[in-house]
Parts: sequence; structure tokens; C-alpha cells
Amino acid sequence: MALREIVTHPNDVLRRKAHKVTDFGKELQTLIEDMIETMRAEPGVGLAAPQVAVPLRLIVVEYGEEEDPEAPPKLYVVTNPEISRFSDEMERGVEGCLSIPGFAGEVERYQEIVVRGQNRRGKPLKIKARGWLARIFQHEIDHINGILFIDRADKVWKIEEEQTAQPKPAD
Ligand code: NI
Repeated sequence: MALREIVTHPNDVLRRKAHKVTDFGKELQTLIEDMIETMRAEPGVGLAAPQVAVPLRLIVVEYGEEEDPEAPPKLYVVTNPEISRFSDEMERGVEGCLSIPGFAGEVERYQEIVVRGQNRRGKPLKIKARGWLARIFQHEIDHINGILFIDRADKVWKIEEEQTAQPKPAD
């Protein structure tokens, strides 16, 4: 495993629609392991392949249950993710992004979604997500479509140095 360099805005790879994953072989498995390691090292709660300069429809997410802060965070690896169901309710929340260091913004997202895609071996999967987990998935799926949170945010602001040191969800 190896850490990969995170691509920052502005960069073309962050703005392209990523390609479908069709080869679930060794190269993809190495990429997945590297992305997990990179996400944990930053630390972040999610990472999309374009953020490590690979234009593929692949995301990794690691986040704990909101209802149970004691529970260990759950790791999701999703290839070719798509949102198949959206709640009527939306909510605002503050987001950051490893590809836009030093900035945060308030973004409106669907409160609950259903994500369909494939796992790391190509087997179909379905994930129901709500709250922060749903927000992270929407943020990461945006990445593989060339969309950044600053495109959706009403307000974007610079984070103070001390604030960046505090633990907060960033992806
Ligand atoms: Ni991001």
C-alpha cells in the first residue's frame, strides 16, 4: 500500500466525468487500498478516485453511525455508485474537501438517499444512508461527476488555522 497525492482545485481531473469501472483486477484493488490509506492519513471521511488523479467511478467512505458514537466507523468501497432514491427533505450542513484545503461551505443535501453500485469485486450493492453519511455519499458521487462542493454552496469561507486542526468531517 502507498499514500497517493491528493489533487487540488483547480485541476482538470476534478472537473471531468469519471469512467465506469469495468476491470476489477489487481490494479483496481491496489488503488482501493491506497485510497483507504490516503483517506485515513489525511484524515478524511471519504475520497473519490479523481482526487488521486484517477478518472474512475470509485469512492471510499469511512464514517461512524451518528446514533452510536461508540461504534467503530464503517468502511464503504463503492464502484460505479449512483443515487437511486432521494428523500423529499433536504438539510444544510458545512462541508470541506481535501481537494479544496482551507475552505468550508454550507451546502444543501438530501437528508436520506439510497446508493446503488458495485463492491470492490463487482458484486451489486445497495446502501441506505441518512444524515452525515448521506451527505458524504452525495459529496463523493459529485466528485466522480466533476462537481465540487463550492459549485453547490451558497456560502464559501476560509477556515482559520486553529479551526483546521479540530476534528471535523472533511472529504
Ligand atoms: Ni471532496
